[in-house]
Amino acid sequence: MSQPVYKIGVIGAGVMGERMMNALRTHSLFRIAAISDVSAERAQESAKLSGDATWYTDHRELLAREDLDAVYLAVPPKFHHAIALDVLAAKKHLLCEKPLANSLSEAEEMLQAAKEAGVVHAMNFPTFYQAIFPELKNRIAQLGTIRRVDILTHFHQWPRPWQQTPWLCGREQGGFIREVLPHFTHLTYALFGDLEVVRSEVDYPADPEACETGVSAFLRLADGTPVTINGLAGIAHVEHLDYRIYGTEGTLSLQNWTNLFIGGDNQAPSLVEIPLIDRLTLLLDEFAQAMEGKEARLVTFETGVKVQKVLEALLGNE
Ligand SMILES: NC(=O)c1ccc[n+]([C@@H]2O[C@H](COP(=O)([O-])OP(=O)(O)OC[C@H]3O[C@@H](n4cnc5c(N)ncnc54)[C@H](O)[C@@H]3O)[C@@H](O)[C@H]2O)c1
Repeated sequence: MSQPVYKIGVIGAGVMGERMMNALRTHSLFRIAAISDVSAERAQESAKLSGDATWYTDHRELLAREDLDAVYLAVPPKFHHAIALDVLAAKKHLLCEKPLANSLSEAEEMLQAAKEAGVVHAMNFPTFYQAIFPELKNRIAQLGTIRRVDILTHFHQWPRPWQQTPWLCGREQGGFIREVLPHFTHLTYALFGDLEVVRSEVDYPADPEACETGVSAFLRLADGTPVTINGLAGIAHVEHLDYRIYGTEGTLSLQNWTNLFIGGDNQAPSLVEIPLIDRLTLLLDEFAQAMEGKEARLVTFETGVKVQKVLEALLGNE
C-alpha cells in the first residue's frame, strides 16, 4: 500500500523556514504546496526552489486553500500566536517553531485552540529528535545520584553570525534567553521532568529597546536537584554552549549540541561517538506518523506551554 503524501504550507521563509524546507523538499511523505512570507521576494525565491509551490504574502490566502493538510510556522515569535490561531481555525495540523509564543497567556491560548481544533500540534526542538537524546537518557541512568545540572550559553556576538535578523536584537522578542534557552529548558524537562525558576537576574544594556546581555539563574527540579544557568553575550570568547550533568558516579557534558563528553571519578572526560542523522527529517517522520493517526514521539504544545512558563519566569514576566 502506498503511503500518503501530505501537502504542507510554510509560513515564514527566513533562516529557519529555509532549513525546514530543505528537509521537506527531500522528504518522501511531504510536498511543499504553498509558501507565505510578508516579503514577496523571499516567498517567491523559496517557491522557486520548491517545484510547483504557490507563493503568497498574506498567510490567510494560504490558509484559504482546502487542499493543504498541514502548516509549518516559522515567523518571528511575536507573530506565532495570531497566525497559529488562524491556522488552527482552518483546522490544519500545525508544526510550530519555538518558543511557542511571546508570553505565557498566548502560549496557553494556542494550546487550547489546538485541542479544540483536534489537529496534530508539534514543535521543533531538534535535540529531542536526534540520536543524542536516547544516548543522554541511557548515560544519565549510569551517573548515580544527580547532584546538579549546569547550563552555560556564551556568545561572542549576538545575534550569531548565521542569524543576522533585526528582531533578534530587540527586547520585545529577541535575545538569547528567548532564542536559545528554550532548547535547554526543554531538554531538561524531557530528561528530568518539571523544573521551576527560584531566582533569575538578567543584565540589560542602557538602551531600553535592546535585548539582554547576560543571565544568572537558579532553578530546581521537582526532587530539589539544583539547575543553574550562566548566559553571556558580547564577551571575548569563542561561542560555547555546554549542558552539564554532575552525578555521584559520572559527569556528562553536551557541548555545542553534538559533542558528548563523559567523565568519571578523577578521570579526564572522553568524547562519545554518536551518529549524526538529519534531525529535521526525523521530526518530519514523527509528524507524518501522528497525521496518520498513529502514535508518535513529538513535542506538543502542552510541553511548549511548560517551556514558555520557565522562559517567562527567567525574564521576570511571571
Ligand atoms: N528550532 C530551531 O532550532 C530554530 C532555529 C532558529 C530559529 N528558530 C525559530 O524560528 C522562527 C523564525 O526564526 P528565523 O531565524 O527563521 O527568523 P527570520 O527573521 O530569518 O525569518 C522569519 C521570516 O518570517 C517572515 N514573516 C514575518 N512576519 C510574517 C507574517 N506575518 N507572515 C509571513 N511571514 C512573516 C519574515 O519576512 C522572515 O522571512 C523563530 O520563532 C525562531 O525562534 C528555531
